[in-house]
Amino acid sequence: MDKEFASLASICSRSRSHALGFAPAQFIPPNQLDPKTMNITTAQLFDNARSHNEFAAAAIPEATLRQLYDLLKWAPTSANCSPARFIFVTTPEAKARLLPAMSPGNLEKTKQAPVSVIIGMDMAFYDKLPQLFPHADAKSWFVGNEAMIAATAFRNSSMQGAYLIMAARSLGLDCGPMSGFDAAKVDAEFWAGSSVKTNFIVNLGHGDASKLFSRSPRLSFEEACQIA
Ligand SMILES: Cc1cc2nc3c(=O)[nH]c(=O)nc-3n(C[C@H](O)[C@H](O)[C@H](O)COP(=O)(O)O)c2cc1C
Repeated sequence: MDKEFASLASICSRSRSHALGFAPAQFIPPNQLDPKTMNITTAQLFDNARSHNEFAAAAIPEATLRQLYDLLKWAPTSANCSPARFIFVTTPEAKARLLPAMSPGNLEKTKQAPVSVIIGMDMAFYDKLPQLFPHADAKSWFVGNEAMIAATAFRNSSMQGAYLIMAARSLGLDCGPMSGFDAAKVDAEFWAGSSVKTNFIVNLGHGDASKLFSRSPRLSFEEACQIA
């Protein structure tokens, strides 16, 4: 197994760095990862993780928000297109600009959460493909193809929003994702003059577990899955 990883790493590093002249990220075989990062549990990420409606008031340090982005940025997107853009709304002034867009049921929790992350999708994401996917002319796959641009921006920014949730949980934070808001209002207030549109919003902080609704059921394997 070690050999396999080593040879994969060496192929990746040789072909990319030689062809493109940039240093590849260091490849660490899974069995050599820092044990300090290995105590994240599946319960913390899935079974025991909830969508929170109330949060402790304590601020989340900027260093934690940077750490959050520095984790989620590594998760995959098609052609590495990385269309998501993030605004971490933390100050009362910025919250005051966001709150009028929130649906009534999402107002109080958004006001109260120490951070509300607006997850946007850059509809001109393909302009960065020469930087992000330099070994192919990937930009030309998108220019002029509006349907493919829209589907790619939405699919991949949604995935990056989901990665944000999992990264936040891995850092011991809780999330409250929301689609109940007026996207046009959020766009006008936060993304005006840019090519970014709002996808969804996630409240972030340390959730108050005593305020959770009871867990809703999920579909069984038989209901949701097939093995073909
Ligand atoms: C994309 C997305 C949008 C959501 N929108 C809202 C919302 O607008 N308001 C709300 O209270 N909850 C919203 N939720 C939370 C879901 O209702 C919640 O994740 C689901 O019921 C599962 O709850 P659990 O994670 O606590 O088990 C949203 C979740 C996701 C992933």
